[in-house]
Amino acid sequence: MRIAHVIGARPNFMKVAPVVRALNACENVNQVLIHSGQHYDPNMSQVFFQQLELPEPDVNLEVGSGSHAAQTAQVMVKLEEFFLKDRPDWVLVYGDINSTVAASLVCAKMLIPIAHVEAGLRSFDRAMPEEVNRLVTDRLSDLLFTPSSDGDENLLREGVPQEKIHMVGNVMIDTLVRLLPKAEAQWDDLSSRLNCTGRYGLVTLHRPSNVDDAAMLGPLLDALSEISRDLPLIFPIHPRTRQRMKDSGLKVSNDNLRLAEPLGYLDFLALQRHAAVVITDSGGIQEETTYLGTPCLTMRENTERPVTVTMGTNLLIGHDLQRLRAEVTSILNGGAKQGTIPPFWDGKAGERIAAILTQIA
Ligand code: UD1
Repeated sequence: MRIAHVIGARPNFMKVAPVVRALNACENVNQVLIHSGQHYDPNMSQVFFQQLELPEPDVNLEVGSGSHAAQTAQVMVKLEEFFLKDRPDWVLVYGDINSTVAASLVCAKMLIPIAHVEAGLRSFDRAMPEEVNRLVTDRLSDLLFTPSSDGDENLLREGVPQEKIHMVGNVMIDTLVRLLPKAEAQWDDLSSRLNCTGRYGLVTLHRPSNVDDAAMLGPLLDALSEISRDLPLIFPIHPRTRQRMKDSGLKVSNDNLRLAEPLGYLDFLALQRHAAVVITDSGGIQEETTYLGTPCLTMRENTERPVTVTMGTNLLIGHDLQRLRAEVTSILNGGAKQGTIPPFWDGKAGERIAAILTQIA
C-alpha cells in the first residue's frame, strides 16, 4: 500500500511524525512525504524535521505564501501534477491549514481515498479560515480520525456515517509524550540561555483576528507589556505577527516583554512545561498545555478544542484585556485552573491510525 502524507505548515509536522513512525513499522506499506512549502523559513519548517526525526520530504511543492485562493490553488495544481505521475492508494491530510483543504479537493476529484487526521473539530466560527478548511476536508474524507469525542459528535450531527469515524486520540500529544524527556534534559541550558530561571509567562499570537488589525494588536501588546511588569513574558514571534507589527509601526519597548525569533519544538515544549502561564491564540498549544497541566489563557472568543476547556487547564479570554490581566493575577496568586488529561491522549494515536489503515486498506 502506498500512502502519501500531505503537510505544509508548522503544526502539521508534529502531527505527521507519529503516523509516519507507526506506519514504518507496518509490513507492505510504503510512504511518500509531500511538503507543500506553505511554511518555508528554516525556523518554521526545517528545524522541526530535524527535532521530530522526520525523514526529509520526498517532494517540496514550494508554494510559499499568498492569498488564501492563491495558496490553495498553487497546492492543488502542483499536487495534481505529482499524483498524475505517482498515484498513492491513500492520502493522509492533517489539521486545518490551506494545504489540507487543497489536498482534499485534489484527491476527491482524482478518486484517491482521503484520511483526515484531527477530524471533527469545530469552532462554529466561519470567520476563521481554518473552520472552512475543516468543514470541506471532513466532507470529502473517507476516513476521519478524531482526537476527542466532541469530534465524533460534530461529524455524526453533520451526517457523516459512523463507520468512517474513528476516535484515535491526539497525534500531537504522541509527539509531546515521546519528546518531553529530551526537552526536559536541556532545560537547565535553555533556562540560563533565555534568562528565565525565575517565574515567567510564555506568549504566542498569530491569528488574523488578533494580529491583522492594529486596533486589536496595539492594545493587546500594551496589556502584555503591563502584565510583564509583574511576570516577565517570553514572546517568540510568528512571522505573520512580526510583519503586521512592522506594517503598523507597533513596537515593544519593555525589557520584560521579550520578543524572540520562533523557537524549535524542544525549546518551546520545555518553555511551556515550566511556564507559570501560557497566553496564546494557537490551537495546538491549548492541547499541549492541557496535557502538561500548565495554565493556558486563550485570546479567542471560541475554540474548536472544547475539551481543553471542559477537562483541561484552558480558559477562553476572548478579547477582554481586563479579564486577561485579572486571570494572570489570579494564577500568580495560586488560583490556577486545575485540569485532567482527556481520554486517549496517551502517546498511541499514531499506532491506532496505522492499525486502522492497514486493516481497512
Ligand atoms: C498557518 C495556518 C494556521 C496555522 C499556522 C501555524 C492557514 C489558513 N493558516 O497560518 O492555521 O495555525 O499556519 O503557524 O493555513 N511567513 C513567513 N515564513 C514562513 C511562513 C509564513 O514569513 O515560513 C509569513 C508570510 O508573510 C505569510 C504569513 O507569514 O504571508 C502567513 O503565513 P500563512 O502560511 O499564510 O499563514 P499562517 O498565519 O502561518
